[in-house]
Amino acid sequence: MRRLLLLFAIATALPVWSAQPVRAKNGMVVSVEPHATEVGVKILQAGGNAVDAAVAVGLALAVTHPSAGNLGGGGFMLVRLADGRTAFLDFRERAPAAASRNMYLDSNGKATQDSTLGYRASGVPGTVRGLDLASQKFGKLPWAQLVRPAADLASKGYALSYSEANSMRGGGRGMERFPESKRVFLRDGKYYEPGETFIQADLGRTLDRIARLGAKDFYEGETATLLAKDMQEHGGLITLADLKNYKTIERQPLTGKYRGYDIITAPPPSSGGVGILQMLGVLEGTDFAKAGAGSATAVHYITEAMRHFFADRSEHLGDPDFVKVPVTALLEPKYILKIRGSIDPEKATPSSQVHAAVFTGHESNETTHFSVADAQGNVVAVTYTLNGGYGSKVTATGLGFLLNNEMDDFAPKPGEANMYGLIQGEFNAIQPGKTPLSSMVPTILMRDGKPFAVLGSPGGPTIINTVLEVAINMIDWNMNVQDAVNWPRFHHQWMPDQLQMENGYSPDTVDLLTKRGYTVRRVGAQGECAAIRFNNGWLEGAADPRSGGTAAGY
Ligand code: DON
Repeated sequence: MRRLLLLFAIATALPVWSAQPVRAKNGMVVSVEPHATEVGVKILQAGGNAVDAAVAVGLALAVTHPSAGNLGGGGFMLVRLADGRTAFLDFRERAPAAASRNMYLDSNGKATQDSTLGYRASGVPGTVRGLDLASQKFGKLPWAQLVRPAADLASKGYALSYSEANSMRGGGRGMERFPESKRVFLRDGKYYEPGETFIQADLGRTLDRIARLGAKDFYEGETATLLAKDMQEHGGLITLADLKNYKTIERQPLTGKYRGYDIITAPPPSSGGVGILQMLGVLEGTDFAKAGAGSATAVHYITEAMRHFFADRSEHLGDPDFVKVPVTALLEPKYILKIRGSIDPEKATPSSQVHAAVFTGHESNETTHFSVADAQGNVVAVTYTLNGGYGSKVTATGLGFLLNNEMDDFAPKPGEANMYGLIQGEFNAIQPGKTPLSSMVPTILMRDGKPFAVLGSPGGPTIINTVLEVAINMIDWNMNVQDAVNWPRFHHQWMPDQLQMENGYSPDTVDLLTKRGYTVRRVGAQGECAAIRFNNGWLEGAADPRSGGTAAGY
């Protein structure tokens, strides 16, 4: 009888069931598209390290996940090597030399569509140079070996998955109005069906040149010449000189602590790392976790932290090479205490009453994330993008790749909402050579000096909150990595003053939050987190069930 009681006690203390991650000992790749994940695993099996695999996955996704995977975009790579070194490669797009503050305003000062659609929307792409630098600095295998799988996928083709075919027909809509995109991404004027073989011959040739001649081809060679010519013929801004001058910028990762975990994350021009650290700082001193995952009280506290950070984001974040971003002041314990003290334990604070901090004196919906870990303990987190799904919808003539619309991540009109409803200020106004502010936040969590988890997500501004929530799910609520990724998510970005909640939250919880003063908007899915957790010698990979992605290891 006593034994039975004991069993019952244990059983009731455990969750009813748990989703299981993919487990392996030697290496793990999590990406949004199965062919790309497989390319990464093969590179690891061939003796490549996590950086080699990440480079190959990035190039493969440029073929198999064209909504966000790219040669014509940019992103961030966060690396932590087994020997303790860390690196942050900023290969995000830069504003072309001919860009100017008001370039997207019409004669009445109204913002036009040009920052999101067509040739003028693109910043100078950084992906090829960024992946090339990663391979040179940290990789083991020859560059050509990393590019070849992508080139083969493009030239030989592959069967389109349901989610990729569906994405082209949905998020890709608008491509058909650009003749080159129509030629590449549609067949006889129709989008491809799931299961059909998708061949991208032009992209295959571009990748073949990049495999043979290196990144130089993209920035100074035939690819550069064709791209600059195409831009010139269609009113785009990117010139051969812009391409030639493009540089990946190596930055110091941002670091901080939360409940004994060390956090390594993205510095400006990402707003994400500052956001994660500020919000965790605010939350650490509250009792939100005791209320339990999914409770209205926990959602309330986390949302208030989000609201405050996004108010700061609107004013204080931008490209640190152009403006003085007050990172230290935004993370100052006294300031964090002040934010925490202003949270009403019961009620939502209207955003109209929350303002960005005033500092006196300055201190000196497509993107994709993939995570890779190898047996040696090297970990890599990459988030890269064309910005909107299929970017500017323009395919570079004869080159087979889509171009970004990252110029919209600037404040096309400071003080007015951009594509993501984000209100951004002068710090993020357009200037030649400047990098637009980003929300992408590849992140590594460390415990006792060892990697604990690596994660990231797409989703515009929701990225920051998705990463925050998945980290909290693991750290505060002890969820395994798959449960942490699966768990329903929510998002608040100060303005508009609304709490976006996935349908996974019960109507009762929504009701409780509405009573606390929130305006709740229900949404289907927020982000696509790709995470790996390190657990007693096991690598546990979690792809997001919200995406068509996979985790695979060996
Ligand atoms: O860097 C940024 O913040 C945006 N360009 C990210 C765009 C994005 O995540 C779109 N995905 N759904």
